Amino acid sequence: MGATSYGASERPPRGDYSRDGKVAADYTCPQNYAAYTPADHDTYRRLYERQTALLPGLACDEFIAALPSLGAKNRIPRFEEINDKLTPATGWEVVAVPGLIPEVPFFTLLANRKFPVTDWIRKPEEFEYIVEPDVFHDLFGHVPLLFNPVFADHMQAYGAGGLKAHRLGACEQLSRLYWYTIEFGLIKQTDGLRAYGAGILSSSGELVHAVKSPEPKRIALDLLRTMRTRYKIDSYQQTYFVINSFQQLFDMTAPDFTPLYAQLRSLAELPADAVLAEDVLVVR
Ligand code: PHE
Ligand code: CO
Repeated sequence: MGATSYGASERPPRGDYSRDGKVAADYTCPQNYAAYTPADHDTYRRLYERQTALLPGLACDEFIAALPSLGAKNRIPRFEEINDKLTPATGWEVVAVPGLIPEVPFFTLLANRKFPVTDWIRKPEEFEYIVEPDVFHDLFGHVPLLFNPVFADHMQAYGAGGLKAHRLGACEQLSRLYWYTIEFGLIKQTDGLRAYGAGILSSSGELVHAVKSPEPKRIALDLLRTMRTRYKIDSYQQTYFVINSFQQLFDMTAPDFTPLYAQLRSLAELPADAVLAEDVLVVR
């Protein structure tokens, strides 16, 4: 899903990292298109169809507008076909990786406007839920917003910021921001609350939960608050952070985080379901 779990997982990442020498030093590899079976293409088709039907009223406008740019919906798209449209639009490029990759190579790719996409797809029995990102999560969840110029610039800035966080020993703090924005962010639009986070947009259950359920907390995004907050990787989120626009997200994250990281060292971590007196709650 993101830098979050990259390298931090207890178990070895799923995926073949040898591929007969085809994985480069930066972890990119050719998309192994020949390896997809008819059942794999069918899994993608069924995921795409179900998820697309859910989007109106739940996904942000920018995502819905850009989704057709992914091309093929009846099969797993070829990454080159996507790049034919994506690179002219925002200078981004989708690159194949064998699965989760370590933090530094991940940040380096983003800083160079290359978005790593896992090329394998989940098994049919994982149709409803998969913990690790597969090609459906990475493409459907993340790539449409890379067609948005402001979001595209934000992702590059995040990559550069990740390399800085690594030097400062603050990857865990920054990865929480990634989690609560790029993976599980909500945005206030003129018609109401909508999802823009890839982890929400690629999950049928969480898409409804995040936007409509009365259960989770929804709090206006605040950098320090978000970077103090732990998160759950194996259940729906208990808290979502809300932005007003991608420009707000870009502007808010543009300043140097060095003093924020210093401040965070003296602040206690918060559980995933915390509510603080100073939180600005967002009502649906
Ligand atoms: N501005 C942040 C820094 O200096 C980097 C960053 C950009 C972090 C965008 C998140 C998102 O560390
Ligand atoms: Co992701």
